[in-house]
Amino acid sequence: MRILISSLALLSILSPALAAPAPTSAPIAVPKVTAAPPLENAVGAATLEERQLLNSLISGVGSLIGNVQSAVAAQNPTAIVTALVKITPTSRPADIAGCISRESSIWANPTTRTDFYQAVATQVANGLVLDGTLNTALYGGLPVGENSIENNNPKPQTTIYPKKDSTDAPYLLSEDALRKAIYIPSGFTYGAKRPVLFVPGTGSYGGINFGNNIRKLLTGKDYADPVWLNIPGAMLADAQTNSEYIAYAINYISSVSKNNDKIAVVSWSQGGLDTQWALKYWPSTRKVVTDFLPVSPDFKGTVLANALCLSASSMGALNICPPSVIQQEATSQYVNALRANGGDSAYVPTTTFYSGFFDEIVEPQQGTTASAFLNDARGVGVLNIEVQQYCAGQPGGSFYGHAGMLFNPLAYALIVDALTNDGPSNLSRVDVSSICNAYAAPGLDLDDVIATSGLIPVAGLLLLTYPQKMLTEPPLRSYAV
Ligand SMILES: *[C@@H]1O[C@H](CO)[C@@H](O)[C@H](O)[C@H]1NC(C)=O
Repeated sequence: MRILISSLALLSILSPALAAPAPTSAPIAVPKVTAAPPLENAVGAATLEERQLLNSLISGVGSLIGNVQSAVAAQNPTAIVTALVKITPTSRPADIAGCISRESSIWANPTTRTDFYQAVATQVANGLVLDGTLNTALYGGLPVGENSIENNNPKPQTTIYPKKDSTDAPYLLSEDALRKAIYIPSGFTYGAKRPVLFVPGTGSYGGINFGNNIRKLLTGKDYADPVWLNIPGAMLADAQTNSEYIAYAINYISSVSKNNDKIAVVSWSQGGLDTQWALKYWPSTRKVVTDFLPVSPDFKGTVLANALCLSASSMGALNICPPSVIQQEATSQYVNALRANGGDSAYVPTTTFYSGFFDEIVEPQQGTTASAFLNDARGVGVLNIEVQQYCAGQPGGSFYGHAGMLFNPLAYALIVDALTNDGPSNLSRVDVSSICNAYAAPGLDLDDVIATSGLIPVAGLLLLTYPQKMLTEPPLRSYAV
């Protein structure tokens, strides 16, 4: 029994409605997935067993998943969330390979792929989110502790507000508001080690986003000092506002880090798009970021953004959505403004990591048309890593979803390589074939992989409960027009 589906089947599940989010724009073609990796070999012996288990699990919780489907049909976000949190996983994957096998069965499956929240429900039912996480997220338990959005940080040691350089864009937010979003963990060395700023993605906070993956692995290393952003609204508000937090945090962390004022930025998803926006419109940040390491970024937006939103009208023409999700539609003004005038090229040495098989949130994500792909017009050094290209036929090149890239072993090894060398990552400095021989970066366990996979259900829940949804994207700020 094969869980691999052909590239053509993958293409067919991207419905024309998804491929053309705005009626006024030309349809965006989703390119052919080049060489589909031999997933059945990579996943190995676990496949058949896991597949049978998955099918029985889906039938066991079928009525609960059905409740989610009815709520989606009724366009009732509250009912979707209520149904989602009622789903109790009846088993969990036995190991990391099993986790990837279940993810693949759910997200690369044409019958569920067109219904995002049904797939989320199936994921929850199959133990691909840590127990209690969804309830915590639903009852406001997330933006506390290491996800706190109210942090008491001292004033910076140099003037970085209202502007650090005269060419920087103006901030709309106050300096106090910007500073509160920076989470500095105890043990941060203020420059004894090189700071690594973690920027979360849509529907996440910096703490939960990286606590079970890259940040966990880099904690305690002598070449990296993790610090992160917890942005109010979980990155669902106006992406231009999210970008202000990033621009300020880059200059703040540089300012308070005495002997190490050059920092690295690791981002997930929208965090990559918004960091590129900050680098573009706050040129002062380019002088202090020596490595930009975006994971699953969507520099071209995504043709699947509308799939995350519920239709606002029975005609299905308009979708009501959090502002940043509208801004991540491939046709948005935000994406267009970012990419104009060289914004589609890196500003600082950059290594970007993405999954061609299969990012369930950002598409296209294959080859040079990938949303994550950056050019290098300024010659600063760019490496674009589609993991299936370099780990073809090996576990590290099997199925990785939008969140799964955060535990991909090649991505982590190249992040370490970039942090310990000048410029972007360099494949010839690492032992690619032995690195690719694992499903997850060494040092991560099954709970880490489940927690990281669980970022998608959490993001879905926060997206549905976001209070200020809109029909159209927020206007561009004057500095970007
Ligand atoms: C990568 O590293 C190799 C070996 O050190 C070097 O020859 C090559 O020029 C590097 N590539 C880039 C793009 O810097």
